[in-house]
Amino acid sequence: MKKYLVFVLFGSMLTALGNAIASPEMVRKYNCTACHAEDKKKYGPTYQQVALKYADDAGAAERLAKKIQTGGAGVWGNTPMPAQPRVTDEDALTIAKYILAVK
Ligand code: HEC
Repeated sequence: MKKYLVFVLFGSMLTALGNAIASPEMVRKYNCTACHAEDKKKYGPTYQQVALKYADDAGAAERLAKKIQTGGAGVWGNTPMPAQPRVTDEDALTIAKYILAVK
């Protein structure tokens, strides 16, 4: 029993760690970092601003995942975000959740 508990605890720790590392790596891989940073304004809004804006919005992750892939303008000003068609559905959702969790 004890062994099982340790195993489960260790497993969920690894999963949490994996998610935390995977998403910052993804935004680098897809070159989002050229226009976005967590807390410094670049060409696009910071991830902190995005997380704050949608803090009470339950459907935000799915909507942002779509917007990441299709791009668009008008939410943060007139500067458009180009579409990112290389981002897979799964990665888009993972990244959206990571961005929404940035504090
Ligand atoms: C060429 C610059 C550029 C790149 C590259 C870029 N973005 Fe953006 N991003 C922007 C701009 C500009 C906006 C503001 C768009 C608006 O006002 O609707 C934006 C907005 C966003 C938003 C907020 C959308 C909203 O509706 O509130 C998210 C989330 C986002 N970007 C994530 C990403 C991710 C993830 C990537 C990489 C896959 C990425 N961006 C790549 C420029 C960029």
